[in-house]
Amino acid sequence: MTGTTGDIWDRRFAERDWPGTPDPYLVEFADPLPPGNGLDLGAGPGRNSLWLAAKGWAMTLVDLSRIGLEQAAQAAKRQGATFGTVHADVSSWRAQEGGFDLVIVANVHLGTETLSSVLDGAAHALRPGGNLYVVGHHISNLGRHGPPSPERLFTEDRLRRALPPNLRTDVLETRERKAGHETGRVQLSGDAVVLAWATKLVNSGRGN
Ligand SMILES: C[S@@+](CC[C@H](N)C(=O)[O-])C[C@H]1O[C@@H](n2cnc3c(N)ncnc32)[C@H](O)[C@@H]1O
Repeated sequence: MTGTTGDIWDRRFAERDWPGTPDPYLVEFADPLPPGNGLDLGAGPGRNSLWLAAKGWAMTLVDLSRIGLEQAAQAAKRQGATFGTVHADVSSWRAQEGGFDLVIVANVHLGTETLSSVLDGAAHALRPGGNLYVVGHHISNLGRHGPPSPERLFTEDRLRRALPPNLRTDVLETRERKAGHETGRVQLSGDAVVLAWATKLVNSGRGN
């Protein structure tokens, strides 16, 4: 498949329906939170933001796929919500400092340096006490799900090293990939995701 990242994802989203059910582990962590401002980096057609919006969250979605963002905006309209959408590369785009209560980076498989920079940006966007949720395919999924390059897949160690020091990591684990986790299709034994739930420290020093 050729083209820019945005073109590739545009084609995927145009060719087939993307799952509408939210990531089950995001649901587990975010369900108890009071609604606020949420930022979904690499949101695609917005299944996670749609679930949060239904709970009263005001969501901003950032993605390189115009089609993904358009599908998300249409779905939000159908459920009576409005999304802020930003067509941008999450590796260089920066949100307003401290403007968000929750930032999601779900199934965006980036190279090591880019992942660190995106998570730095996510921490910058969080208010003190706000939460970051990250999830991605475990490296054991290589050749079955996720990108074909091992350096873009997750291990706990890789994610730990990418998380910025101004966040307190509350959960960093490998878990079974459940139905609803990206495809919702047939489960293969050993399917796993790596996830983190982290909180922005109140005295985070650097002002970000
Ligand atoms: C596997 S989909 C995940 C969509 C959504 N987060 C979910 O979990 O259903 C990956 C998404 O990340 C987006 N993406 C990948 N790299 C990106 C980048 N550098 N900047 C912005 N979006 C990016 C793609 O366009 C695509 O929408």
